[in-house]
Amino acid sequence: MSAGVRALSSETEIRKEKLIEPIFLLDGENKTQDILSMPGIFRMSEDVALKHIESSLRLGIRSFILFPAVEESFKDSEGSYSYSKNNFYLRIIKTLKRELPEAVLISDVALDPYSSDGHDGIVKDGKIVNDETLDVLGKMSLAQAEAGIDILGPSDMMDGRVAYLRDALDTARFTDVAIMSYTAKYASAFYGPFRDALDSKPKFGDKKTYQMDAANAREALREARLDTAEGADYLMVKPALAYLDIIYRLKEASTLPIVCYNVSGEYAMVKAAGAKGWIDPTRARDEMLLAFFRSGADAVITYFAREFVQ
Ligand code: PBG
Repeated sequence: MSAGVRALSSETEIRKEKLIEPIFLLDGENKTQDILSMPGIFRMSEDVALKHIESSLRLGIRSFILFPAVEESFKDSEGSYSYSKNNFYLRIIKTLKRELPEAVLISDVALDPYSSDGHDGIVKDGKIVNDETLDVLGKMSLAQAEAGIDILGPSDMMDGRVAYLRDALDTARFTDVAIMSYTAKYASAFYGPFRDALDSKPKFGDKKTYQMDAANAREALREARLDTAEGADYLMVKPALAYLDIIYRLKEASTLPIVCYNVSGEYAMVKAAGAKGWIDPTRARDEMLLAFFRSGADAVITYFAREFVQ
């Protein structure tokens, strides 16, 4: 059979506008920093990020998920820098929205980039305190909405946060700001390189008390029902590669759009084995991306976005 004939029966395609590019942001000017475990991905200051995003838009990517790399001296146990007037992340959101209004901007809502404990929530006596964390997440979210974010991305995994944030947004009349909930976020070894990128490793323990157990699939359905009832606009599965069954199940169970996060460790594996000549990194990349869409993802967050469209 010829390629043309095969194309007629091909079931899945990867569309550029369905890819979401992660962007790591730094304070300052004219700065680009390598991330050792993520070759080809950089931390960028505002001016560099602006040019980068402009060129990604020209290449056909429309959506960007933004993460701040915060200096250690701004971190505290309450993550108060997350909503501070001097916060560079909020400033960059404002600039991007003004200069590139057509770019879809997605935020990160969690304490870990700002927390001296390196956890997604406030820590008291060695435990993550859910409800006190919600208060900070609310302040952070309103600050991001004010700066012009299109979609909030709560990655913190506190219970009840989607309802809490939706209510806070609506009360402040940010009814147009959507919520992309990290619905099924698993406690995973595949986040390693990301924590290098943000220097946000937990200072003690792990995230198993608030992230999901890799052994569980039906629990993801429970989380999806809760997030939906609480007002989420998108449901996310993270990581993606080892959780294709979860993507499939959520797609079957829900009418909301399903997003998956092709995380840092999945990117690093392809890059590392590719560099050694052990796999063909381009084919491996495309096969992964296809698998996400075939499993039912409506959009994919991926560090491969930029190289794929190039
Ligand atoms: C934390 C957050 C993490 C990622 C996105 N948001 C890491 C974690 O939970 O420790 C990981 C993304 C990746 O590995 O690419 N709020």
